[in-house]
Amino acid sequence: MSAVTMSRAVRRRWWWTLWSLLAVLATGITAYFVPPYLVGGTTVPGLDMSIPGYYVSLVFHAVPAGTALLVGPWQFVPRLRARFPRALRITGRVYLISVVAAAMAAAYSSAVTPSGPTLQVAFFGLIVAWLYTAAKAYRTIRRREVQLHRIWMVRNYAFTFAAVTLRLYQLAGLQLMGVMPSLEYRDVYASSAWLSLLGNVLVAEYFIVQRTLAPLARRRSAEPDEALPRQAEALSQQ
Ligand code: HEM
Repeated sequence: MSAVTMSRAVRRRWWWTLWSLLAVLATGITAYFVPPYLVGGTTVPGLDMSIPGYYVSLVFHAVPAGTALLVGPWQFVPRLRARFPRALRITGRVYLISVVAAAMAAAYSSAVTPSGPTLQVAFFGLIVAWLYTAAKAYRTIRRREVQLHRIWMVRNYAFTFAAVTLRLYQLAGLQLMGVMPSLEYRDVYASSAWLSLLGNVLVAEYFIVQRTLAPLARRRSAEPDEALPRQAEALSQQ
């Protein structure tokens, strides 16, 4: 096996490992957090039912958001895209409609949540970023700009996946509260939301640069620069 084939095989194995982790976490978080809202929410600890419309907005948020979280990873599998293009177009539409519906419901939940302004600002930031990247993903695919569409979908799913990283950070924060009694749950919640938003953006941008921009830049610098001989000629004539 040549070095090039081997590095491709290693990269492919890495890709599948990361993709599997993404899909398992997305499925696990949806399966654990969404169903309690479908059966009245009475089993959700600390859920304030006295705030008008809060519980209903969470149902209208969690169901489509969970759908987007579940559907998202499959949109990134190249083999599925090649074999079932029609099905992937339909699930792509389901994904984007789910994001818009979930974001609209989340706007109400964010406005009335009793969890405080630091969290509210993070959630409103997420909503704007979620809708903006969804609109960009939609516009680029309508114009058949497939590469750009892929980039905007990676960015958009990074925000969808904030639902997973938020809960992982919250879990870590709860452990930290055990050893730092001065730490309050409200602070853990708000900092987890900010960390999930910023951390996921960084990971998505790293992924985009590594997979899309770096190969393009390398190809560009390997090509002979046609402008250089012309510039040299112009200089020699001065
Ligand atoms: C990325 C954009 C998202 C935004 C802006 C957002 C926003 C919100 C807001 C404001 C709340 C209410 C929180 C509170 O009052 O304490 C909430 C709760 C919730 N969200 Fe999201 N969310 C997003 C993504 C998702 C996704 C992808 C899922 C998929 C599972 C999801 C599932 C839930 C659930 C189940 C709740 C109820 C609270 C809980 O049980 O943890 N959200 N979300």
